Amino acid sequence: MTVSSTHSYDELVQHDRVHRTLYTDPSIFDDEMRRVFGRTWVYLAHESQVPTPNSYRTGYLGLRPIIVTRDRAGELHALFNRCTHRAATVCRDESGTAKNFQCPYHGWTFKNTGQLVGVPWPDAYGPDFERTDLNLGVVPRVESYRGFVFGTLNADAPPLAEHLGPVREPLDYWIDRAPGGEVFLRNSAHRMVYRGNWKLAYDNAGDGYHPAFSHRSLLQMAERLGESKDMTYFGRTPDRGPMYVQYLGNGHTFIDQRPSYDGPGAFWANQRPQPGREVFEELIRSEYPDDALRYLDLTVGAQINLNIFPNLLIIGNQVQVIEPLAVDRTQLTWYATTVGGVPDEVNVLRMRTQEDFPAFGEPDDQANFEEAQRGLSIPEVAWVQMNRGFGVEGRQKVDADGVVTGPVTDELHMRGYYQEWLRLMSR
Ligand code: FES
Ligand code: FE
Repeated sequence: MTVSSTHSYDELVQHDRVHRTLYTDPSIFDDEMRRVFGRTWVYLAHESQVPTPNSYRTGYLGLRPIIVTRDRAGELHALFNRCTHRAATVCRDESGTAKNFQCPYHGWTFKNTGQLVGVPWPDAYGPDFERTDLNLGVVPRVESYRGFVFGTLNADAPPLAEHLGPVREPLDYWIDRAPGGEVFLRNSAHRMVYRGNWKLAYDNAGDGYHPAFSHRSLLQMAERLGESKDMTYFGRTPDRGPMYVQYLGNGHTFIDQRPSYDGPGAFWANQRPQPGREVFEELIRSEYPDDALRYLDLTVGAQINLNIFPNLLIIGNQVQVIEPLAVDRTQLTWYATTVGGVPDEVNVLRMRTQEDFPAFGEPDDQANFEEAQRGLSIPEVAWVQMNRGFGVEGRQKVDADGVVTGPVTDELHMRGYYQEWLRLMSR
């Protein structure tokens, strides 16, 4: 099937399957960059990465290079990182502090609000040179939700809080695990590029079906080391209470593993002695007896996964960002998090729990993404099936707000978010 940008996307997204060209056709990818990333709220940065007046951080909104800045009064801006002279990026560092950005090509200078404030030899341009027309382009709407900064190019988009809707509740839970709700992301991170479409990562993060197979070696290693045995049941029907997946609307999904988690006491009681961890635990229990359980809980993954459409994933204690590069090329960035209001030892131990992923687990997933992309190149096999859980009596519930809940192995996440994709692509 040949698809052009005028093609009817509802032929390609059916209720239980999507067409392979959604992952392979460059014209669909171009449409996504304009219609999905150009129309909805897109995660840009975390406030802890631009902590002070005049700090900045570069990134992308879809394929558009941007700079998230704080001006001298501390207000957030998202600027197009694109000189208004001849298009060069004006900022080429990942992060830092700067009141101005001087374009390296011919030296035009812009304030961190985007205003053009200087050009070399200004008299040479003559009286009709109007600087105010040549400020950096801006992302017109930038809003934060509890430290997570989003931007949208769509003047008609609902307020960010409304767009997040029911995802706010688990996100609040994730943030409020920290005393005082302070979470910090570092500007340094694990970055990896895979040869596959960006949606393969978005599909996978809401997929509780794959871990028992894809991450088998990691789970077996964890079991040998005495870590949570329940992890080995991830993706199957667990003995003690079901883990579930929820489609929350607007493209967002929530996997809740907490029903099969007995709390930090049980988690830590099941640990076999391990170098380092044992010493830390002992230290925290003895130094902070009143807060020990809470502190130890913070060193264990948050037991929830959130997909916030289209590019933000919360996985355990980590934040992962999806950056599309081309129809068959994607960058994933994993940010470890630390929390405020706890002794340093807690954050040190917490960092150790953020080593399994991406270091050991992510190659399993990325191998799948690349192999799926190879499989998707076969024109004779058209459809990607997302219908696990269909037709099984009583497996899915839909509440009054339209939130769909099912077993963690269901693929309802994909069936749900593709309806949002379709809505954005079809307008
Ligand atoms: Fe930036 Fe010329 S492209 S000053
Ligand atoms: Fe995985």
